[in-house]
Amino acid sequence: MKKLSVVGNWKMNLTLEEARNLAIRLSNEAVNLEDKVDVGVCPPFVFLKDVCDILKDSKICVGAQNMNAERSGAYTGEISGAMIKEIGCSLVILGHSERRTIFHESNSLVNAKLHTALTYDFNTILCVGESLEERETERTEEVVGIQLSESLKGVTKGQVRKLIIAYEPVWAIGTGKTASPEQANCVHSFIRNILKNQFGEAAQGVRIQYGGSVNSKNAKELLSQPEIDGALVGGASLDFESFFSIISDALKIEKSS
Ligand code: PGA
Repeated sequence: MKKLSVVGNWKMNLTLEEARNLAIRLSNEAVNLEDKVDVGVCPPFVFLKDVCDILKDSKICVGAQNMNAERSGAYTGEISGAMIKEIGCSLVILGHSERRTIFHESNSLVNAKLHTALTYDFNTILCVGESLEERETERTEEVVGIQLSESLKGVTKGQVRKLIIAYEPVWAIGTGKTASPEQANCVHSFIRNILKNQFGEAAQGVRIQYGGSVNSKNAKELLSQPEIDGALVGGASLDFESFFSIISDALKIEKSS
């Protein structure tokens, strides 16, 4: 069976107290998680250590929302993979569309970060997705194809076991507009084919999450699609009930690999 993966991206939200309380509630509930779904949360950097400590012995893993491609050095304001590893993170999100658009991250920078993340053995979520204009001009496959080929340059078959792709159409992030399950599934199939071309059989084990306004109402239908292997959840992951409801939906879905 394929294990679904549900990850919360807290972005630049919550106070330390709220983050700790949310982590404590997740830790208490996680005891009931069977080993059927991989669950993770990605708090802001300054809350990572607290959240890692709270979730240390739970089934929930903790990740960073970004990291620098370099191992150390004169990079004021930046955080390295070694630092987030040392405090207990096992996961990192790279190439999120907010990083690409607001912070001008290119595919080649994302590629450099990805190589560093994989050498640290992080479960690495690579985000891809088209803008509204790109979808409306029927360039979704072109854009997502380029993001994948450039961001995954040089990644080997042996490394893909640590890779997760998140398809996040930019027009669906934080807007309340979700891609329809069929629309999402169609892009996921396209992504799967690209992965197969690069990695052969090993591509089958790569989980492809959907992200973009996933919530407790639409998660079940999205996650039931054959090519959707999980969710990257922003806004709805800030609320314990809604995030746990998405996890519970994922637990009910059986998917053969
Ligand atoms: P959203 O964000 O669920 O708030 O749309 C998803 C994401 O950006 O990962």
